[in-house]
Amino acid sequence: MTDLLVFNVGELVTNDPARDGLLGVVAGGAVAIVDERVAWVGEEIGLPEPYRGLPRLDAGGAAVLPGFVDAHTHLVFAGDRSDEFDRRLRGETYEEILAAGGGIHSTVAATRAAAEDELFDEAAVRAWRMLTNGTTTVEIKSGYGLDLETEARMLRVANRIGRDLPIDVVSTFLGAHVVPLSHRAERDAYVDLICGPMLDACAPLARFCDVFCDEAAFTVAEARRILEAAQRHGLGLRLHADQLGRVGAASLAADLSAASADHLDHATDTDLEELRAAGTAAVLLPAVSFSMRLPYPDGRRIWDSGVTVALATDCNPGTAHVESMPFVVALAALHMGLTTDEAIWAATLGGATSLGLADRGAVVPGSVGDLVLLDAPSRLQIPYRPDADIVAAVAKRGTVL
Ligand code: NIG
Ligand code: FE
Repeated sequence: MTDLLVFNVGELVTNDPARDGLLGVVAGGAVAIVDERVAWVGEEIGLPEPYRGLPRLDAGGAAVLPGFVDAHTHLVFAGDRSDEFDRRLRGETYEEILAAGGGIHSTVAATRAAAEDELFDEAAVRAWRMLTNGTTTVEIKSGYGLDLETEARMLRVANRIGRDLPIDVVSTFLGAHVVPLSHRAERDAYVDLICGPMLDACAPLARFCDVFCDEAAFTVAEARRILEAAQRHGLGLRLHADQLGRVGAASLAADLSAASADHLDHATDTDLEELRAAGTAAVLLPAVSFSMRLPYPDGRRIWDSGVTVALATDCNPGTAHVESMPFVVALAALHMGLTTDEAIWAATLGGATSLGLADRGAVVPGSVGDLVLLDAPSRLQIPYRPDADIVAAVAKRGTVL
């Protein structure tokens, strides 16, 4: 059990709704962590006597934030697709490459061929880079197996990341990423396989089920069948919704009271109103727009609709080989119409809310002792210095990494 006192904090982002402004910023702050959890937060001048003797970290006047919560990643995979990326830079489209059996299918082939330890080693390197960039909780999806054995292997690897590294992992079963090449002529048989044996094997390894419900992937009817089966297995629901076109996926997410609807590039005002009413969070992924050279989702309109907004990397080998949440915050502030403070909130408390995690994303008594110390006196430098290694130190459950 770890104790830590972080003091001399120039600007402490608490996300505490009981304090002023969206981020509840405390100037001249300190945080006391006892047994891995935040025990006290406030102006250093008021630090109670019992916490003065804790092991100390001098923030040197820098800004301190809650650890980032990356609520949408495909961190476990084998191989890379830089060749495909280059072909897209020369004019081929994502959909063309996928329809020709490349794209996700090439990652599926590489992932099926990789041993469990290999998958773990590659994912662990990425997870360490995420930690270095301040991510202390990460959601990880399967979805590059598309058969029972490999989907289960991916989820075991994801869970092992959370056990062996100082990062908390929330696992999501994404057997319905795309229809595998083997089942192109018999889609229904693949949906049957997911709803039966795959969910039986994978549900015990995951907290959520996700479906890529879009023009190039699963229909709304197929997604509904899969998500209802997942619900019967006790899984929470997430949905890759209306990224490539508007197929009604956001509306389905709301109808099933999903925890999140992700992407939402083509969501309408009606879709957003349904999500708001259902309490479904919007997980926005600007690194995809950046890497695909596509228009950004309108973060301003989505935030103003009253939906809970989360930001995530979508780290994957195809559409966003991006691991840094500060970079995602910078993109959202520069290109999606969110203020820097809104983007920071979405990358911390928004992500935690979308994952149903009530004990993180904020620095309040009782929350896990996950903190990010910036190499900057102000959080406003995150979009201002977009290529900086802006994270100077990370505390995970009170341990400085
Ligand atoms: O979230 N949209 C579907 N899945 C990923 C892309 C996966 C891939 O291309 O490998 C995404 O963007
Ligand atoms: Fe994704």
